Amino acid sequence: MTLRNMLETRLAQALQAAGAPPDAPPMLGPATRPEFGDYQGNGVMGAAKKMGLKPRQLAEQVKAALDLGDIAERVEIAGPGFINITLKNEWLSAYLGQVLADGRLGVAPAAAPQTVVVDYSHPNLAKEMHVGHLRSTAIGDALVRILEFLGHRVIRHNHVGDWGTQFGMLIAYLDHLGREGGADLSGELADLEEFYRAAKQRFDEDEDFARTAREYVVRLQGGDAHCRQVWQRFIDESLRHCEQVYARLGITLKREDVRAESAYNDDLPQVIADLQAKGLLRESQGARCVFLEEFKNKEGEITPVLVQKSDGAYLYATTDLAAVRYRAVELKADRVLYIVDARQSFHLRQIFAVARAAGFAPAHCALEHHPFGTILGKGGKPFRTREGGVVKLMAVLEEAEERALALVSEKSPELPEAERRHIARVVGIGSVKYADLSLNRTTDYIFDWDKMLALDGNTAPYLQYSYARVQSIFRKGELETLDPQARLLIAEPAEKPLALKLAQFAETLEGVARECLPNLLCNYLYELAEAFMRFYESCPVLKAQEPTRSSRLLLCQGTARTIRTGLGLLGIETVERM
Ligand code: ARG
Repeated sequence: MTLRNMLETRLAQALQAAGAPPDAPPMLGPATRPEFGDYQGNGVMGAAKKMGLKPRQLAEQVKAALDLGDIAERVEIAGPGFINITLKNEWLSAYLGQVLADGRLGVAPAAAPQTVVVDYSHPNLAKEMHVGHLRSTAIGDALVRILEFLGHRVIRHNHVGDWGTQFGMLIAYLDHLGREGGADLSGELADLEEFYRAAKQRFDEDEDFARTAREYVVRLQGGDAHCRQVWQRFIDESLRHCEQVYARLGITLKREDVRAESAYNDDLPQVIADLQAKGLLRESQGARCVFLEEFKNKEGEITPVLVQKSDGAYLYATTDLAAVRYRAVELKADRVLYIVDARQSFHLRQIFAVARAAGFAPAHCALEHHPFGTILGKGGKPFRTREGGVVKLMAVLEEAEERALALVSEKSPELPEAERRHIARVVGIGSVKYADLSLNRTTDYIFDWDKMLALDGNTAPYLQYSYARVQSIFRKGELETLDPQARLLIAEPAEKPLALKLAQFAETLEGVARECLPNLLCNYLYELAEAFMRFYESCPVLKAQEPTRSSRLLLCQGTARTIRTGLGLLGIETVERM
């Protein structure tokens, strides 16, 4: 059990004992300010209101009933009825001792593991991955790592866009190039962005080509062998591009995680038939739609979900309905997480509502959209190249490594070149990912090289540097391993906050998994690193007397392990020196 859960359970019991209604939440969390102790319970006010009592009065009763045994040194009532808890140093020492003796840093595998489908990254294969794909890819990958670490069964779904009219144009163009004698097409497809532009230009200028392209769409959908083959070739090449980006970025997605839009094609007629059977379909100007009351606008008109056009074509929404059913029913997911741009919020709300109405997702399967904002350039404008084009993700990663190399070479010119390059890769890629992960994902953010590569502040380089700094203590002390008999003895004022942070790793991960907010882990690691720096400024380690020296070395080692594990769960590497 995490420290927070333990205290929360005790506080809930005390609330009950004081006569609070059974559903009154204790609302326990880490104290917001050090003078409030270590943890703070805010549930008394709500419970008192329900009970018609004065909050202070109930707080007194709760305090009297609160049995913390030898956990707490002090329990105080503050303000209107906050319960402030200060932990005892000896108890915290013993508790943290157990956490640090555990290879998983006190993170117990979930008692009831869930099946969680995570829909993330999902680029459109018609084009090259651009900087806009960074968010879903980085956030989704951090979440799958964390959920897996917590013992859940995670199924990655890369819901790539590989279907639709634009592919008719692309494969018609690819075919056309092939017919003109260009045998090896990998060169032509080396730059998908360029390829798309050329195909589009041809489409706009050449009426014959445009007609062929439209025919190809129909032939492709009809299963024409030749069109399928050209399409497959294009898709394979485009996926190879994605995989190069994933490899460079350290993303865990593999080819077998691709569950493309086209994978649901065969199921689409069935989706329509089932909606029909449920009485949910309505014709509107020849198209088939689902009208749900809850999507009525101010004017009293319902925005329908269009599932089949008058020409018989299916839509993005139809595929998404098939995907929900597959995930909920076939894969028996307990949770389906959609790590998708905030601009698709309405679309997904509609999909979830239709899926529920149609019985495609049972009530116990949670469908969760976790939206994120847009990456903006300097000045809050759309992030574009100097020429006004989209910024390729690969180009961003290359620039990140270059900039990091310049920094490392300036700071540590004495390191051998190969090591500097390695550090530059780890720091450069880490910076780009961390900048994205460390902000609350729901807001837009401004892409700023100087900020993300800064050695101070809440950045990847700062945490990576903190890690390397702790490791340097062990190098300096020529310590390979610590004395297995060493015990933690928390005494100094700067030791306690560090120890408390270290003891909170497990509950931090639980919070991230619940709310799908990796920034909570980033904040935690940043606060941990800060607590370490304050500790290290005021508490000598190698020069301390025993048994203090061994205890402090344990704190150092715990800090290094926690930072490395935490960054690892965010998909970010560390280096031993930098
Ligand atoms: N491929 C889509 C896009 O580029 C995103 C897919 C999101 N996932 C989903 N199930 N709709 O916009």
